[in-house]
Amino acid sequence: MKITKVKTSSISKINYDDLKFGVHFSDHMVIQDYEDGKWGELQIVPFEKFPMSPANITLHYGQAIFEGMKAFNGVDGKIRLFRPKDNIARFNRSAERMAMPKVNEEEFLNGLLKLIELDQKFIPKKIGESLYIRPFMIATDELVGLKASSKYRFMIITTPVGPYFSQGLKPVRIKAEMKYSRVPTGGLGEVKAAANYAASVYATKKAKEQGFSQVLWLDSNEHKYIDEVGAMNIMFVIDDVLITPTLEQKTILPGITRYSTLSIARDLGWKVEERKIEIEELVKASNNGTLQEVFGVGTAAIIAPVGEIFYEGKSIIVNNNEIGKKSQKIFDTITGYQYGKIKDIHNWILEL
Ligand SMILES: Cc1ncc(COP(=O)(O)O)c(C=O)c1O
Repeated sequence: MKITKVKTSSISKINYDDLKFGVHFSDHMVIQDYEDGKWGELQIVPFEKFPMSPANITLHYGQAIFEGMKAFNGVDGKIRLFRPKDNIARFNRSAERMAMPKVNEEEFLNGLLKLIELDQKFIPKKIGESLYIRPFMIATDELVGLKASSKYRFMIITTPVGPYFSQGLKPVRIKAEMKYSRVPTGGLGEVKAAANYAASVYATKKAKEQGFSQVLWLDSNEHKYIDEVGAMNIMFVIDDVLITPTLEQKTILPGITRYSTLSIARDLGWKVEERKIEIEELVKASNNGTLQEVFGVGTAAIIAPVGEIFYEGKSIIVNNNEIGKKSQKIFDTITGYQYGKIKDIHNWILEL
């Protein structure tokens, strides 16, 4: 691994009292190019722009994937990563589905750890804050013509971020999307392809204009079964059972926070079900008083409690618009591991 350090750090330009998501970047980045059927040397270089041909194939056809994970400054001053190997494995599943070359997982992890070590002063110190890590891969052939590229660039950049919800875990309003779809059956839903996010922008913008913070995505065939919420997996507590949509349809991203939530729930002896969930089931559960909690789960917020679901012109109000006990417990447990407040019984944490 070749390392070229910055001459002057940019850290003084960041206001750590008012961190915005994804706006400021740490001093260095990982970069590795693929050509002639193999990866070149992984390098750490100063964060900077790079020139690109207007004919770069990603700009036209979107052959691009990414990941999202975080590094945390613990209560004991130790730096921790949460399940990074799972993100790396998912990255390679995304690469395969997008006809891109797989990365060497060990090299990826070593490059990542070196980058975090080098830029550790960028990791915010307060609980709730973290260094967001964005690995990604783009195609780099220069060609106006649709095909799998022969050249690729793998990179990792990092950005210090504040808590996702600055006023604490306040329940959000979401809108069940009855017209647009994020992913079709047989599409890219089970991987982290940039195209999925492009497909979500229009409906999300419309929902935000109507005062909702996220879209609740339903299956693309019938708009009947629940998939995900925004860029999060979704969980329901109905009659004391924690229920989440099954991954069997392959239209949902297998979230690492989703797996963690299910493991913690099982540790705690909660009843858990992974199955298809009809949106009408929520209406019924709300009407008969068994709908107790709804929350999104994902790396960015960990838990996003849902206070209201707008569906077919009516609002389903959840738990009186307050965060539920199970949502809070999952949030406290996962963040407890991440900030070193709770002993890691699952071997999920990688300490630097
Ligand atoms: C579409 C989608 N679903 C779910 C998730 C949650 O996944 P994770 O818990 O691995 O962050 C994400 C975020 O990565 C996402 O983009």
